[in-house]
Amino acid sequence: MDKISVMVVDDSYETRSNVKQLLSFSRNIRVTAEAASGEEAIVLAGEMRPDVILMDINMPGMDGIKATEEISMNMPETVVVIMSVQGETEYVRKAMTAGAREYLCKPFSGDELSETIVRAYENEMKRREKITPSSGKQQMRSRVITIFSTKGGVGKTTIASNLAVSMARTSKKRVALLDLDLQFGDVAIMLNVSVKNTISDLVKEFGQMDESLIDDYLVTHFSGVRVLPAPVKPEYADYITANHIEKIINILRESYNYIIIDTSASFHETVLTSLDMSDMILVVSTLDLPTIKNVKSGLDVMETLNYPREKIHVVLNKASEQFGIRYRDFEDVLHKQIWAYVPEDSQTVVTSVNKGFPFVMTRTETKVARAIIDMGNELMRELEGGAGKKSPLSKLFG
Ligand SMILES: Nc1ncnc2c1ncn2[C@@H]1O[C@H](COP(=O)(O)OP(=O)(O)OP(=O)(O)O)[C@@H](O)[C@H]1O
Ligand SMILES: [Mg+2]
Repeated sequence: MDKISVMVVDDSYETRSNVKQLLSFSRNIRVTAEAASGEEAIVLAGEMRPDVILMDINMPGMDGIKATEEISMNMPETVVVIMSVQGETEYVRKAMTAGAREYLCKPFSGDELSETIVRAYENEMKRREKITPSSGKQQMRSRVITIFSTKGGVGKTTIASNLAVSMARTSKKRVALLDLDLQFGDVAIMLNVSVKNTISDLVKEFGQMDESLIDDYLVTHFSGVRVLPAPVKPEYADYITANHIEKIINILRESYNYIIIDTSASFHETVLTSLDMSDMILVVSTLDLPTIKNVKSGLDVMETLNYPREKIHVVLNKASEQFGIRYRDFEDVLHKQIWAYVPEDSQTVVTSVNKGFPFVMTRTETKVARAIIDMGNELMRELEGGAGKKSPLSKLFG
C-alpha cells in the first residue's frame, strides 16, 4: 500500500517539527508538505494533493476554519483533520461544519495522531467506494436498534444520541438516528444540528417517499450520523402513523448499516412499529421504585407481544447501589440481567448537552463515555453474529 501523504499546517515551526517527528515512526504515513498559514495551505494543497491535511485552527491571517472551508469545497477528496487546544470547542464545531472530518486535541501522542490520520483516510476511501457504481446495494446489512423505556427522563435520548455517534465513529459504517419522540423529541437539540425539515415534512410526501427523498430530509451531524428530527410542534405528531414509520425504517434499511431510534415513554403505535421492526431493543431504567415498576410492566407487555427475550437488553442508567436498591434485587424483579451499566456523571452529560458536543467524542476518558462506547461495540459484535465469543469470566460464571 502507498503511504498516506500528509500536509502539516501550523504557524508554529515547533508544532510542525513535532508532528513530523511523531509521524517519522509511522510505517504508513509520510509528511509530504508543510505550510505556515491558511493561504499557503490552499496553494500547496492544490499543487501537492495530499491525502490528509493536518490543520491548526488558530493562525494569523486566514485561519484553519476558512482554509478548511476552501479546501473541502475545491478538493473534497482531501481529508482535513483539525488540531486544536482544549477549550476551543466552538471553533472545532465550526471547523467540522466547514468540512473537517476529524479533530485532534493538542497535545497528542504519536499513536493518537497516526490512528486519527489513518481513520480519517480510511473513512474517505469507504465513502469513495460507496459512490462508485460497483457497490452493490444488496450487500447492505442493516440493523435497527430502539432505545426505549416506559418511564420518561431516564436517559433514552442521552444514550441514543451518544450511542449513534460512537457507533458511527468506531465502525465507520453508515448510521441514521431517528427521533420518534414525536411530541417532545430533542435529539436535534442534544446533537446541536440545525433543523430545516423534520419527519412531519417528510410524511407529507409519503407517496413519493424513497431513498433520495429521505436523504434530503436527514441532517448530517459532524460525526457522520444522519439525523431525522422530530416535529417542531407537539401537535404535528398526530399526523404521523405507524404506516409512515414502517415505510421510513424500511427505506432507511436500504442505505444505513445501523438505524438508532430514540422513543417516547409510551407504547404509541409509532413506537410499537419501531419495536416490532427492531433487531435489538435497549430498555433503559434507573434504580428508583417508580421507574422499576414501570419498566417491569413495559417488559411484561413486550413479553405478551412475543418479542424474543434475546432481542431485549436492559440498560441501567445513573447506575449506583448507593440509594438503597441492589443490582441483584433489580434483576430479580425484572427476571432479566442488567446488560450494561451507565454511571451518573452530570458534569460530563449536562455540559456536553449545553455545549452541543457529544461526550463520546469530547470526553472519552470519562466512565460515562466509556460505558456508551463499550455498549456500541458490544452491540455491533452481537448484531454482526459474534455473540458466541463471550469474555473468559462469563464462561466461568455465565
Ligand atoms: N448518566 C447520566 N448522568 C447524569 N445525568 C444524566 C445521565 N443520563 C441522563 N442524564 C440527564 O438526565 C436527564 C434526562 O435525560 P434524557 O433527556 O436523555 O432522558 P429521556 O429518557 O430521553 O427523557 P424523555 O423521556 O423526557 O425524553 C437529562 O437532563 C440528562 O442530561
Ligand atoms: Mg428523550
